[in-house]
Amino acid sequence: MTAYHNEHPELPTENDMSDDKPFYEHHVFFCLNEREGKDCRPSCGKHGAEKAQKHAKQRIKELDLSGQGKVRINKAGCLDRCEEGPVVVIYPQGTWYTYVDNSDIDEIIDRHIVKGEIVERLKI
Ligand code: FES
Repeated sequence: MTAYHNEHPELPTENDMSDDKPFYEHHVFFCLNEREGKDCRPSCGKHGAEKAQKHAKQRIKELDLSGQGKVRINKAGCLDRCEEGPVVVIYPQGTWYTYVDNSDIDEIIDRHIVKGEIVERLKI
């Protein structure tokens, strides 16, 4: 086995990450998968997922919560909870939510991310 050599000194080394702090305090994944065809499973992309992901990203930027040590809003493919969607999952808690509109997204951000509360009414 080859020993690890840091060929990219600008990148963090193993020692830099030894304090167990996650790279992002909250890492948020929106399923944007979209299926075509009338006999297929439902898909988040057909229920406003892209608009919701963009709204979340913008709101996190407005709150100055975007970036390392803070929050990252990402797009994801199918997370296999299609029938409960549209879905979003927040790590490291691994909390899953569904939503209908931007006010639901705002509530998830304001309560889960900012205040550290679970939004029971949207949890799946
Ligand atoms: S399409 Fe979103 S979880 Fe499967």
